[in-house]
Amino acid sequence: MSKKFYVTTPIYYVTDVPHIGHLYTTVAADVLARYHRLKGEQVWFLTGTDEHGQKIQKKAKELGETPQQLADRVVERYKQAWVKYGITHDDFIRTTEQRHKKVVQHLIKRLMDSGDIYLGNYEGWYCLPDEAFWTETQVVNGCCPDCGRPVERLQEESYFFRMSAYGDKLLHHIEQNPGFILPESRKNEVVSFIKQGLKDISISRTTIQWGIPMPPDPNVTREHKVYVWFDALTNYVSALGPLDGDEKFPNFWPQAVHLVGKDILRFHAVYWPTFLMALGMPLPKRIVAHGWLLSGSGKMSKSLGNVVNPIELADEIGVDGVRFFLFREFVFGQDGEYTKDTLIQRVNADLANDFGNGISRVCSMIIKYLGQGPLDLNTLLTEDSELRTVAGQIIPKFHEELEKFAFERALEQLWSLLSSVNRYIESNAPWNLAKEKDPAAQDKLKKILMHCHESLRIVSLCLLPFIPRSASQALSFLGDKESEKTSSPMDKASWGKGPQKVLVSKGQPLFPRLERA
Ligand code: ME8
Ligand code: MG
Repeated sequence: MSKKFYVTTPIYYVTDVPHIGHLYTTVAADVLARYHRLKGEQVWFLTGTDEHGQKIQKKAKELGETPQQLADRVVERYKQAWVKYGITHDDFIRTTEQRHKKVVQHLIKRLMDSGDIYLGNYEGWYCLPDEAFWTETQVVNGCCPDCGRPVERLQEESYFFRMSAYGDKLLHHIEQNPGFILPESRKNEVVSFIKQGLKDISISRTTIQWGIPMPPDPNVTREHKVYVWFDALTNYVSALGPLDGDEKFPNFWPQAVHLVGKDILRFHAVYWPTFLMALGMPLPKRIVAHGWLLSGSGKMSKSLGNVVNPIELADEIGVDGVRFFLFREFVFGQDGEYTKDTLIQRVNADLANDFGNGISRVCSMIIKYLGQGPLDLNTLLTEDSELRTVAGQIIPKFHEELEKFAFERALEQLWSLLSSVNRYIESNAPWNLAKEKDPAAQDKLKKILMHCHESLRIVSLCLLPFIPRSASQALSFLGDKESEKTSSPMDKASWGKGPQKVLVSKGQPLFPRLERA
């Protein structure tokens, strides 16, 4: 049985259309999903939208539509963006779907029956943009301690979840499972939050209409709606059909990797695991928090209005250019400043020049000096060279870095092989060898060009998860159309593992140079 991999993105609020912050997490998940598929693993990739709660109810009211109309309209914008960027999710869940609601109600009922959810009164503060409850001591000058926006006073009958009972158990789990929360620095923040003592949290609202009803209870007079974060987090399980005897649930759930922005780490690394513990369900395997894309040093966000539209950006720069930039420029766990200028520089320098020109230069020299082929690689690649040595070093590192979600360092490995190819060409000057008539020079020329070719073939295969269309085109120029079609293409990204014979073609420029604005 092949290995399983389950990757999720947050489900995004439908209060507004997607921006490149949402794109960032979604492409990260897509890179991982593609990478694991290329390793021959069985992958399930889930994304979707978070459609309930006060925030959406309020926004719909402002716009003069029903929350359902708002959700139906905005969800299309997310779906369009994901099609544009070639996102390969296996499922898209909306929390207004019946398959989701029934799981939420079922799990809530179980927690009510076990006594982990009990009836009480909530008195405290609420941050509407974050849909988060805060106590008197947590609020800072009337504002949310997380996002700094004003909080509102709430006083209402509410169900509570007995989170206080699970703090020690959660700390133990975090200690026993070093990769549970990544990166390490964020894990430490979570640990110190738990060590301050977990309090029971409010798990229902009576003052909103737009939500999943709590199960019937003779002790209450007002209708309670499930707190939107319990509703939302449950998507990761409900999408696997746990109540329908769906095999996806036992197969994929224990392998779950949740990718999230640091803004919602506490919900994923504290609330969600304690809900699951109370339910006696296995916890996800990893929760990986990345930093924020900043715009003018503030977080890019819908509510701040400083956002970049992913569809317009793709039309201007190209899908693969944007996909690449997001993971080459920023360190995954850290914040990074987005500017159009750095984007254009990256695409020109790394993609148009190093990668695109590298491919066309080598393919042209092969055609010019060796003829189009088919060229026999058999014996040539068994010889040693600097390139073979460098490739042998960077390939395992590429995989190691990706397994650690260090996308930028994984890409750096590939770029170090690309620059080795350049140096190798410069120092061996194939154009001079081509002028010499003796057979030894001809053999050397052949070897030099085909070792460059093999290095570029490996780089192209490794780039498939990041820039799927261009990398696939590069492989076709290099005459390797077979590797991608095998059951485990990543195994072919290794010296001498490609086809025995290749027919090289000149091709079009992979990345036209972009003009700076
Ligand atoms: O929080 N930089 O939805 P949301 C990087 N519905 N990533 C960013 C970003 C930025 N500037 N802005 C947004 C919610 N993101 C809840 C989630 S999950 C069970 C429920 C990304 O629409 C990042 O992944 O506010 C962040 O965590 C997410 O979008 C928040 O999306
Ligand atoms: Mg948000």
